[in-house]
Amino acid sequence: MAADEFNAKWEEFENACRTCNSCPLRQNATNTVIYRGGKRAPLMVVGEAPGANEDIEGKPFVGRSGQLLQSLLASYGFTDEDYHICNICKCRPPQNRRPEPSEIAACKKLLAMQFRLVRPKVILLCGSTAYEGFFGRKVKMGDVRGRFIENNGYYIMTTFHPAYALRDPKQKVPIYEDVGRVRAKLEELGIFPPLEPVNPIG
Ligand code: URA
Repeated sequence: MAADEFNAKWEEFENACRTCNSCPLRQNATNTVIYRGGKRAPLMVVGEAPGANEDIEGKPFVGRSGQLLQSLLASYGFTDEDYHICNICKCRPPQNRRPEPSEIAACKKLLAMQFRLVRPKVILLCGSTAYEGFFGRKVKMGDVRGRFIENNGYYIMTTFHPAYALRDPKQKVPIYEDVGRVRAKLEELGIFPPLEPVNPIG
């Protein structure tokens, strides 16, 4: 898609997000939280819904779990334009509760529009709400995490939500490993070059 056409469609998409009233979450939200990172990034990272910090700043994953996610992505050499971070729901649920199935369903058409524009090659779903929102079925995280599902030429990896690792720090290890699998897949697809090993003594 040419840049002009893409920009027009992107604007249309953002307008659809900002004017959405398909569920009650918008009424108490300060901002509609759409994305951060690159618009046409090869990696899409999907979380649950904005929290308090995200609601204020209007950007996803800017609080403590976002900082952890950011450091895990950076440790594999990913920079801002390499990923597109978003959520299953674009408005903050009160008291950070899980979004209701009806709220997830109401937001799905916007996520579908976003997906068609970004056209990621690899998707990292963070947590069970992201999985359920994406696939429409409930799971035990232990049954799905760490493995790719291929769908129409793109690859989907599910990992734990970073907030889980803030509560239980040893869970940083599986998330770190899963981000490593994502990096390896993007290298295998020829989208990124192999990471240069870091020389600790310079
Ligand atoms: N948790 C999420 O799932 N998304 C955010 O944007 C922030 C915290």
